[in-house]
Amino acid sequence: MEALLKNTAQRNEENFDLNIAYFKQNGFCVIKGVFESSDVIKERERVLSIIQEQKTKESRFVRGSLFLGEENFLSFSKIPSWCMSRLYEFTWNSMPKSTLEIHSKAMFVKKHFDYRDEHFGLGVGEKFYGHYLSTSLYPTNPAGYLIEHFDGHKEDGTIVHYMVPLSNKGSDFSSGGLFIINKSNGKKILIDDEAKMGDLIIFDGTLVHGVDKVLASKDQQMGRLAQFMISTYFEKPNFYSLPLRKIKIFFKELLNRHGLIQLR
Ligand SMILES: [Fe+2]
Repeated sequence: MEALLKNTAQRNEENFDLNIAYFKQNGFCVIKGVFESSDVIKERERVLSIIQEQKTKESRFVRGSLFLGEENFLSFSKIPSWCMSRLYEFTWNSMPKSTLEIHSKAMFVKKHFDYRDEHFGLGVGEKFYGHYLSTSLYPTNPAGYLIEHFDGHKEDGTIVHYMVPLSNKGSDFSSGGLFIINKSNGKKILIDDEAKMGDLIIFDGTLVHGVDKVLASKDQQMGRLAQFMISTYFEKPNFYSLPLRKIKIFFKELLNRHGLIQLR
């Protein structure tokens, strides 16, 4: 771990302060070459094989209500708010060391951009606080997307998110992808035009962002794949927790399909 952290600091030493200044001004930045390409290629192959293997299992999208000790699962959902597959992996289900190393490094870098409280997100002493790994695949057929939205409340100040790209625009999909509205000039920025595998995206979740329809121009383009570790409070499950969550999601998605509620 020590070696990894040193490596991160060395690789970005000249650019690091520049990245922080750019982030403060614009609300996002792409840090180039944070990860070895062999490490991200290995991670991409790992998650793609899980998605391939489990995609026939029917599971809906989940936001919130994650339970302590639950199994990893893959979900797919196509509603007006989004179209994507999302793989949920939990640290208690033995995550590969190489995966944890990528995200320890990403979270270490992210801390430099987060000024709220030096202990924020560490979850020390907090009840059921932890992290889970989220991998999103926005396919090309049907075209994946996530409607524009912002996370939290504007009054919260900055919410720093990071994202590890596991696909490249150009070879894996031809148009669309992650966009963010620049804080300084209100312009729409297509982040995936710049962020490639091996880079790390940092952005302020309170800025308007989303994923424009991911489209292919040739056959065999899989779409947009990206990964991030999310901090959350897990709930203590009982016998009814999982079936109840299933029913809640079913109705939320139904209401969204009929334009009665907005999901984000
Ligand atoms: Fe978001």
